[in-house]
Amino acid sequence: MINIAIIGYGYWGPNLVRNFSELPNAKVVAVADLDKSRLEVVARRYPTVRATTDIQEILADSGIDAVAVATPVNTHFQLGMAVLKAGKHLWLEKPMTETSLQARKLVDEAERRKRVLLIDHTFLYTGAVRKMAEIIRSGDLGRVYYYDSIRVNLGLFQRDVSVVSDLAVHDFSILDYVLGEDPVAVSASGTNHFPGTPENLAYITLFYASGTIAHTNVSWLAPVKVRQIFVGGSKKMITYDDLEPSEKIRVYDKGVSFTDDPKQIYQMRVGYRTGDMWAPKLEVTEALQVEGAHFIDCIEHGGTPQTDGRLGLRVVELIEAATSSMRGQGETMYMQRQGKAA
Ligand SMILES: NC(=O)c1ccc[n+]([C@@H]2O[C@H](COP(=O)([O-])OP(=O)(O)OC[C@H]3O[C@@H](n4cnc5c(N)ncnc54)[C@H](O)[C@@H]3O)[C@@H](O)[C@H]2O)c1
Repeated sequence: MINIAIIGYGYWGPNLVRNFSELPNAKVVAVADLDKSRLEVVARRYPTVRATTDIQEILADSGIDAVAVATPVNTHFQLGMAVLKAGKHLWLEKPMTETSLQARKLVDEAERRKRVLLIDHTFLYTGAVRKMAEIIRSGDLGRVYYYDSIRVNLGLFQRDVSVVSDLAVHDFSILDYVLGEDPVAVSASGTNHFPGTPENLAYITLFYASGTIAHTNVSWLAPVKVRQIFVGGSKKMITYDDLEPSEKIRVYDKGVSFTDDPKQIYQMRVGYRTGDMWAPKLEVTEALQVEGAHFIDCIEHGGTPQTDGRLGLRVVELIEAATSSMRGQGETMYMQRQGKAA
C-alpha cells in the first residue's frame, strides 16, 4: 500500500484525491492547502484524511511515500524540490515548472535520489491519444505530413500563466508522444489583448526534420469551445474531436497521389483517393485512473513513468521557445534539447 498526500485542493486537486482514493493499492492519508475553506471541503468529503495548511507536516511524515502537487505553476519548483529532498516520490502537475533550468534541477534531483517523478500530462493516458499514437506508430497513416490542432474557448483567463502554458502544453505533450520526434524549430505569434496580462491567444508552428509540420491555435477568447486535432499522412488521415461523446477518433482512408510519369505530364498529375472512414473502439477508463495506477506501479516496481520529468522538461523547453518567438514577433527559435535521455 502506497501512502500518498496531495498538496493543492483547488480545481484539479480534488480529481487527484478522488482517483487515488479509488485505487486498491494507494491510500490518500493527507491533503494540504493554504486556503482553510478548501480544507473544510476535504474534511466533509473524506473525514478520515488529515487536512492541513502546513506542508512541513507532510514532508516530515515518514509514513508518506509519495506526494502529488496540484498548486499554481509558480510554486511547482519549490514544492517539488522539497518533496524530493524529503525522500518522497513526486507527482507534479503540468506544466512542470516556470523555467527549463528548474525542470532540469528536478529531473537531476529525482534521478540522484532514485525517486519516481511523474508529470501530469493527462492526455497521454486517454484512450483517444493512445489510439492515435498506436495508429501513427504502426505506419498505417504513412508519412505524417501535418498535425493541426485548435484548442479554444472563452476563458478561463489566468493571471500567472499564458495560454501557451495552459493549453498548448497539451499539444506539445501529445506531439512528443505520437510522433516520437523532436521539433527542430518553433515559430509563434500571440498577443495579450489586456495590458499587463499574459498572452491569451497564440498560433504556434513546430517544424520537424522529417518534414512533418505541426500547428496549434490556442485561445481563451473564442465564443465556443473547440478541441480538435487533424493528422494527415501519406496513406490515411485522422480527426480527433475531444468534445465528441463517442467516436472521438475517426480514421479516413483519404489522400492524394502525384504522378511523375512523363507520358502523363500534360494531364492532371494529382489523384485524390477517398475510401472508408472508421471509428476505432477506445479505452474508456478515466485517464487519471490509468495514470494513478501507473504512478503507483512505477513506485512499487522501480519503473519510469511514461510522462517522466524529461518529458516535462521537453514541454517546458517548448513553452520557453514559443514564448520567446511570440515576443520576437514570430522569430524562428531553433531547439537545443536538454530533455532527451542521456
Ligand atoms: N493535468 C491537467 O489536465 C490539469 C488540469 C487543470 C489544472 N492542472 C494543473 O494543476 C495545477 C493547479 O491548477 P488549479 O486549476 O487546480 O489551480 P487552483 O488555483 O484552482 O488551485 C490551486 C490550489 O493550491 C493552493 N495553494 C497555492 N499555493 C499553495 C502552497 N504553497 N501550498 C499549499 N497549497 C497551495 C491554493 O490555495 C488552491 O486551492 C496547475 O499546475 C494546473 O496547470 C492540470
